[in-house]
Amino acid sequence: MIKKIFDFFRHKKKSDQVLEAQELLKVIDKQKLPRHIAIIMDGNGRWAQRRGMPRASGHRAGTEALRDVIKLCCELNIQVLTVYAFSTENWKRPKDEVNILMALLVEYLNKEKNELHQNGVRINPIGRLEELPQPALDALIKAVELTRENKNLILNVALNYGGRTEIIDVIRAIAADVEKGSLKANQIDASMVSEHLYTAGQPDPDLLIRPSADSRISNFLLWQLAYTEFWFTSTLWPDFRRAHLLQALVDFQRRERRFGGLK
Ligand code: FPP
Repeated sequence: MIKKIFDFFRHKKKSDQVLEAQELLKVIDKQKLPRHIAIIMDGNGRWAQRRGMPRASGHRAGTEALRDVIKLCCELNIQVLTVYAFSTENWKRPKDEVNILMALLVEYLNKEKNELHQNGVRINPIGRLEELPQPALDALIKAVELTRENKNLILNVALNYGGRTEIIDVIRAIAADVEKGSLKANQIDASMVSEHLYTAGQPDPDLLIRPSADSRISNFLLWQLAYTEFWFTSTLWPDFRRAHLLQALVDFQRRERRFGGLK
């Protein structure tokens, strides 16, 4: 009986959410969508903890949210989606959790890559990838190869990613040219820095989404977020669904972006 009641409410919640998503979809201006959306997928641990489950269950549930969000980005013709999957600081977590996250990445890629490919998604890992464990690297290489030519959505998966490390890598690359004598220090400008980022050639994020109530950047896309609109929600990442993304888009479209200029 208790299970029946629980199922009823679970079902009700789901259908309300779908309806809400349909309503939100109607008010979105398809001509004013962000070109690039970035997401800090936070709150997996708390989601699991609140259910008395191991943290790994929260990470696994997080892959469902990711699935939903990618699907909507494809439907809306968003050009780039960048998701923060593993930071340069996440190595500080217990070894078991790091191993689980790496195994989940392999499982996710093996399970999802064909469908992502069919939907025209190009999987593009960003970060210091060479430091990832070999099985993760192998799975990434296969996914990148398979989806290389796809043009619908670039899915940047930030892995062993740190905004500061990225900027250090840029400085090193540019400094090497100065050292060789092919570049003068006073020729370095913002566009040259952008061209050396892991996201070279892509527009900077227009919208950054961070679920789970924390309001910080956490070393994510430090250069690229200069003029990005931030959207925060207390919803934990595993509970994040298309209705949340649509709400973020509605709010984004109400913002006035001035890029330091005047209206
Ligand atoms: C942060 O939540 C989340 C992570 C460090 C991992 C994000 C990974 C996924 C969503 C898995 C899916 C992604 C791929 C590409 C396989 P947290 O653990 O810090 O949560 P907490 O702040 O509640 O503890």
